[in-house]
Amino acid sequence: MAMETAITRMLGIKYPIVVAPMFLVSNRPLLEAAARAGAVGLIPTLNFRSNEEYRSFLQGWPEGLAFGVNIILKDNPRLEEDLAATVEHRVPLVVSSLGNPAPLIEAVHAYGGKVWCDVVGLRHAVKAAAAGADALVAVASGAGGHAGTLSPFVLAPWLREETGLPVLLAGGLSNGSQLLAALALGDGAYFGTRFVATRESAASDEYKKALLQAGPEDIVYTPQVSGVPANFIKSSLERRNENSKAWKDVWSAGHGVALINDIPAAGELIARLLQEYRQAKERLP
Ligand SMILES: Cc1cc2nc3c(=O)[nH]c(=O)nc-3n(C[C@H](O)[C@H](O)[C@H](O)COP(=O)(O)O)c2cc1C
Repeated sequence: MAMETAITRMLGIKYPIVVAPMFLVSNRPLLEAAARAGAVGLIPTLNFRSNEEYRSFLQGWPEGLAFGVNIILKDNPRLEEDLAATVEHRVPLVVSSLGNPAPLIEAVHAYGGKVWCDVVGLRHAVKAAAAGADALVAVASGAGGHAGTLSPFVLAPWLREETGLPVLLAGGLSNGSQLLAALALGDGAYFGTRFVATRESAASDEYKKALLQAGPEDIVYTPQVSGVPANFIKSSLERRNENSKAWKDVWSAGHGVALINDIPAAGELIARLLQEYRQAKERLP
């Protein structure tokens, strides 16, 4: 079954399903599984310990297989060297977060790559659109990581209407009926937390198990961990001491934990999302 949207056309992929970039969680096996299942996965460049490690990942990535990277623009000491490696290896897709994306967009467009910008509201969305972004990632309330505060029901269609750009909906997506909803509101579905609980992800077993146990009431939105408001599992915040490392020992997750009950392989999860999507579509009145 074809599922064509502005996003699948932009990247030449089969399904508008994106496995979001996640600090300390995304890795090469997860990206490969996503691409081989017809979706696309992204990895933050900072998941590689050095620019050299990032370069060797790029060198070894299979030719023609879809993937993307995430570059953090604010307070990132490796910004210049990681961007240079991205340009040299012509990474097909880059997602920018936190900060002014204009120079990055210019550099990536120069070799024909695509840039999506993470945004939480209209002000930043308009700036990203003016700078030439190819699509927006609408990071709504309840998302894992640095979440926004606006309802996904409003944010995605609003940004799409105001900017005319394709929009990926991010925040709370865990199953196929939500995928259907995301494609009613936008052009792509951006899944984070759901893919932490996959076999391939680099999260620890304890972290994955905590996702199965947590409900949405166990998610706390706080700027305490990284200075920018983000969502974390309450028990991991409560256990925190001076030796705890943000994101490694304090576990980020979004409201989508409500609908996570297992730890499948990423490819199986994508096949299941598609099956649930079809069933949900048939059930629509
Ligand atoms: C553990 C974790 C780490 C994350 N790290 C990053 C990151 O480094 N860069 C980024 O752009 N987004 C990051 N995010 C946000 C995701 O890319 C995505 O926007 C979000 O997970 C979508 O919401 P969901 O978790 O409710 O599906 C992270 C999310 C999680 C759960």
